[in-house]
Amino acid sequence: MCGIVGYVGREHRAMDVLLDGLRRLEYRGYDSAGVAILEGEKIEVRRAKGKLINLEGVLRDKPLQGSVGLGHTRWATHGKPSERNAHPHRAGSVVIVHNGIIENYRELREELEAAGCVVASDTDTELIAHLINLGVREGKELLTAVREACARLIGSFALGAMSETDPNHLVAAKHGGSPIIVGQGEKQAFLGSDIPAILPYTREMISLYDGDFALLSEEGVQVVDAEGRPVDREPMTIQWDPVSAERGGYDHFMQKEIFEQPRAITDTIGTRVIESALDLDLDGIEFTREQADALRSISLVACGTSSYACMVGKYMIEQIAGIRCEVDLASEFRYRQPILGPDCMVMPVSQSGETADTLGALREGRAKGARILSVCNSRESTIARESDDVLYTHAGPEIGVASTKAFVTQVVALYLIALKLAIVRGRLSKDEIQARLSELMRLPRLVEETLQIDQHVQKIARRYFKAEDFLFLGRGIMYPVAMEGALKLKEISYIHAEGYAAGEMKHGPIALIDENMPVVVIATQGALHEKLISNLQQVRARDGHVIAIATEGDEKIAEEANEVIYIKDLGDFLTSILATIPVQLFAYHVATLRGTDVDQPRNLAKSVTVE
Ligand code: AGP
Repeated sequence: MCGIVGYVGREHRAMDVLLDGLRRLEYRGYDSAGVAILEGEKIEVRRAKGKLINLEGVLRDKPLQGSVGLGHTRWATHGKPSERNAHPHRAGSVVIVHNGIIENYRELREELEAAGCVVASDTDTELIAHLINLGVREGKELLTAVREACARLIGSFALGAMSETDPNHLVAAKHGGSPIIVGQGEKQAFLGSDIPAILPYTREMISLYDGDFALLSEEGVQVVDAEGRPVDREPMTIQWDPVSAERGGYDHFMQKEIFEQPRAITDTIGTRVIESALDLDLDGIEFTREQADALRSISLVACGTSSYACMVGKYMIEQIAGIRCEVDLASEFRYRQPILGPDCMVMPVSQSGETADTLGALREGRAKGARILSVCNSRESTIARESDDVLYTHAGPEIGVASTKAFVTQVVALYLIALKLAIVRGRLSKDEIQARLSELMRLPRLVEETLQIDQHVQKIARRYFKAEDFLFLGRGIMYPVAMEGALKLKEISYIHAEGYAAGEMKHGPIALIDENMPVVVIATQGALHEKLISNLQQVRARDGHVIAIATEGDEKIAEEANEVIYIKDLGDFLTSILATIPVQLFAYHVATLRGTDVDQPRNLAKSVTVE
């Protein structure tokens, strides 16, 4: 996720505040950075690809004085990571920085170029600068020009703007997507995309609401609505220490990342759904009807949590797209001499893009002539570079070793690919496509609602955190979710936990069941629900304790389980993501109750770059 910092005042050099703020936002991950500072009557821009140290080098060679400025770290969505695509972006006398995704950027670009604007980058952000500059050129104040420009945007944006025509002000705007924080100090004002960026300078902050615009000057901060009417926003006094501030006030990065999942899913869907055309634009990744029909098989290859995302994806690809799909652990796939050819596709799925076994599996597929389409969360990673195509998840950096938002965005990405293949193959009616797309567009809000079970799950965790063994059971698409739940628990709480297909109970695991073995059963509604009820009864009959995850309205389950966690139903496929939330939260609360290192569990690394 991108980072924004802004400063107007005389207490500090703008460059110092901007670089300091961007350093505090580095944990969010980025692939380029830049600053814009008003020097005299001109705004000077300095940008660099890669880490802040590169930008600091540019500024050492060409330092900037001045006391009004904007800074940005960019996590590329539109346009590759490069100096040309780095923020800030300029149009005429206007310079802006922006977080979010503009969905109508294609139409805006055509309109602006037709009006004679020369668009220099591949980004949607630059188009906003051009829209604002058109207003400023007509003599409008910067705040007015920003309000009118934002009225043209469809999508999510959090932005900061400055102009040579209005040297004493910064303007901020927010609509969906990232937060925008404005802070006021003695004869100075600050702007940040997160509290840590400006916390060293002020504790009096306002978090803008959607639809708010803020005018920042040495005199302080004014907030107005889209029509320019003053809005009363009470400043909050931030008590955090800087370390907890980087975790956004959460106790752990893993907790923060669990609660970031609605945003991560929104950003991963991004502008890829074209509802009007009942189609998807997977960043230019194309399949012809012939290619899709000729696919003999798709091999999903990954490790750990990512392999469970693949297992969920298998159900989607086979049942929606009608293409044979295999899931292999990458560490096995790379050595088992898989039967592959040019009519096969190998899909490595990896958050880090550097997992050695997954890279080995990619190379095995490449050696046998298969098309390589990877799902990856890290641009410019080795797996991304060696793939024919990459569908990026936009989860933002995942700091916690235990994968959470990366998992759900991988499942979303695989759902997009399954849908795209089905559409290309003509397997879905217009109504079915519409139904699938509207389910997907509802997902972020339903994940947001599901996160409200947090306290309920914490209560259940208190009753079971001393157990030394757990079993997780699921059927169908919920079987991989059971596997993921077991992995989450074992890797952060160090409790022995196993995930199993519920239908396997009689073939061995039932021997383990007694009053000391809590069993988590993912018993959401579906064709296999009755069978899951019977599995649940088998556990209870042997004094096992059942923690059931069920869909709202399923009263029967409450009679059969010791504990019930209700979630909403979002159809056969995407309910798997809603069911993941409780198992993530359960693992998190059990681990915190056991006092383990949630973010850096013993023996584990975030990316396993060795075999
Ligand atoms: C998941 O919580 C673990 N951190 C681990 O299983 C991880 O999913 C696995 O190492 C794969 O990593 P990748 O997605 O970066 O390839």
